Formats: sequence, C-alpha cells, structure tokens
Amino acid sequence: MNVMRHLRVPNKSVQDVIVLLKDNDLLHNGMRIIPDSDGKHRLIPLSNSAPHSLPSYFREFEEVTQQGRPDERPNESWWTHLSRMIGEDIVREHGESWPSNHEFIGDIMIVRIKENISSFRKEIALSKMASHPNVRMVMEDRGVQGELRIRNLSPIALRNNSEIITEEISLGRHDTRVFVRESGKSILCDPTKAYFSTKLQTERLETLDLARELRQLLGSPIRVCDPFCGVGPVLANLISEDDLVSDALATDLNPDAVEMLFDNLRRWDGRQYPEEPVVIERIYPDRITGVADASTLSEISGVRSSWDMVIVNLPHKTVEMLPKLIPLLDRSSPSLIRGRAVVAESDIEATNRRITDILPPLLAGSPPISLNIKRDYSSTLRLCSFQAWIAPN
Ligand SMILES: C[S@@+](CC[C@H](N)C(=O)[O-])C[C@H]1O[C@@H](n2cnc3c(N)ncnc32)[C@H](O)[C@@H]1O
Repeated sequence: MNVMRHLRVPNKSVQDVIVLLKDNDLLHNGMRIIPDSDGKHRLIPLSNSAPHSLPSYFREFEEVTQQGRPDERPNESWWTHLSRMIGEDIVREHGESWPSNHEFIGDIMIVRIKENISSFRKEIALSKMASHPNVRMVMEDRGVQGELRIRNLSPIALRNNSEIITEEISLGRHDTRVFVRESGKSILCDPTKAYFSTKLQTERLETLDLARELRQLLGSPIRVCDPFCGVGPVLANLISEDDLVSDALATDLNPDAVEMLFDNLRRWDGRQYPEEPVVIERIYPDRITGVADASTLSEISGVRSSWDMVIVNLPHKTVEMLPKLIPLLDRSSPSLIRGRAVVAESDIEATNRRITDILPPLLAGSPPISLNIKRDYSSTLRLCSFQAWIAPN
C-alpha cells in the first residue's frame, strides 16, 4: 500500500509548484501526479524524505495523505534514447559523467557537458529532445562569464517543425527570447543576452518572505532597491503583492537586460515603460529604473538614503560592493540587506566577520550575519545567501 503525502494544488499553479518542489528535492519521482476529484486541483506526490513542516511558500496548499499511484509508464527517459543511439556499453563506460540534470528556460533546455564526453554533445542533445518533445532548442552551458554575468551558451540542436537541425545553428538567426512562468507571472528573458536562472526561484520566495517581515516591522509598504536586477525576477514577486512595495528601483549595467526588464515591468505594473533601454531615470514617482552602475548609484540625490531593502545580487563581488551600497539605505528606520555571495567553504566564517565589519550596527535582537550555503558553485566554492537587519541611526 502506497499511502503517502500529496500537496493539493490548483491546476493553474501545478507547473510552478513542481519546479519549486524539484528545486527543494521534495518531489517524489516514482509516483504520478493525480487529478483531484473536484477537477480543479491536482495532487502532487511528496518525497518520503520531505520534512514534516514544509518551507513557508508551500503552506498555502493543503496536504492530503492518500494512496499514491506508481508511475508505470514505459521508461522512455533520455538514457534509453542515448543507449539506443550510441550503445549501452559506451553509456556505462562514462557512468556519472553524463548530464543527468538540465535547466529549462521556456522551451530552451540548457545542459552542462563534461569535457570527457563532449564528443557526444549532439547525441546528448538529440536524446534529451526525444524525451522532451516540447523542447525547441538545446544549448550547451559553458558557464557564466564577464561583468554582465551572461552565460556562454552554444546551441547544439534546434527543432524546426518536425525536423531537428544540429548543423550551422547560429544564435543570431533563431529566437532565444522566451517567457518563463514563475509564481503566476510571466518573465521575458533571453539567456544568451542577460543573466537569468530558474534555479533561484526558491531564493526569490525567501526574499519575498523577508520583505513581508520588513513590511510588518515598519508598518507600511516598503521601498525596495534592486541595483543588479537583470530582467527583474526578484521584483516580479515583490511588486505583484498588494501593499508590499511602495517604491522600487530596478537598474542593471546590461542594456539588453534593461530592455527586457521594461517589457516585464510594462506587464507587471500595467504602465508604459520606454521601448529602448534608457539611462537611469525616475520614470514614475514610485519607479526609478534604467541602465546604471550600482557602484555609483549612491552619488545620485533622490536615490541615496532612500530604501528600506537593498538586494545585492552579484555574488562574486558582494563584499567588494557592499560599502558602495550601504549609503542607499534610509537609516532613519530599520532596514534590510539581502545578498548572495560566492565563497570558499573554508572562508565562510571569515566572510561572516568581514561583512559584519563592513555593515553598520545590526538591529538589536536580529540574528548575526551568517552565510547560508545554497549550493556548490565549484568543488571548493559555495553559493551562499545572507540577510542583514540594520539598526536605524
Ligand atoms: C547574478 S546576475 C543577477 C540578475 C538578477 N538579479 C536575477 O536574479 O536574475 C547579476 C546582474 O548584475 C549586473 N551587473 C554587473 N555589474 C554591475 C554593476 N556594476 N552595476 C549594476 N549591475 C551590474 C549584471 O548585468 C547581471 O544582470
């Protein structure tokens, strides 16, 4: 008897919740998603190791315990296709090297391929496409690069009607702009032109929770500054919640990111934004946006000392950037910095102390700075996040 825990989710939110559950290792892979008897919900199976108390963003959904349904559909996983294409022996020979993970950005699939199996990149792409018929393009991810943190992506295979092309796919000729659904919003992005990661959705929901906490503490809607906003996914969650955010600053150094941000803001905010990326300006009394270097923002009057929450999302430079960002906070009341940092695991304690030394005094009773490991960045480096509750002057 497979009586197990399921999350009862409205049909329209099922895709969002599956991504989040996967991201948190909470989805049961061997069991099926079952339609609820009311026709309006589905029951998503939770993994046996899911904690009794689920993260706060799942609490809006009812948990039901009932008979699970094993997934007995024929296993046409990408491995099966790959084995058929190159033979089981070669698949076995390279064991753990094959990319079992991939990331979907809209109908684009992004895969990291290890050096020792790079000669099979086409077979990998074709097998993944065969098991995911809705994927239009598979691209190899060679890592995030440069100041603008854009991924170095190389297209391997493109579905063109019923045909799959693997030769002469040039990025400029094919549409790489896609809409991604997240928490009920659609986010326009182009992973070849601006940073975007679907894997940060959990991080963004934690940021949303922190913003709610700050709003509660201040007793009024908060002013949020997102100076490394990319195409704006953090703000998507924040500005869409009633009475959470009053004013927002959304800027980035990358004009392509800002162009897509304007498209996104137009839909989320229901107001007009420029068609072209413009240099930072106050477009509405409550919206400052455009292209800007975060390190000089605090030189602009009307931007300095104006924000309750500052989001620092340039993880490899956080510690270096912090001193230039602190003056953006309005220190007449409690404020919050929410940041991410890439550090060696052995340096975490030292970095906690460095950040504490750089920051103004923390709010009495708030927890000390503590980098929280989110995932491995490399064999030694860890991607961490932190929050700092700052005391008023
Ligand atoms: C890791 S990405 C985060 C983007 C976005 N917040 C997100 O979560 O998708 C960092 C962003 O910082 C931008 N950036 C890098 N240096 C910057 C600077 N000096 N001033 C403003 N933006 C910068 C990059 O263009 C990139 O979009």
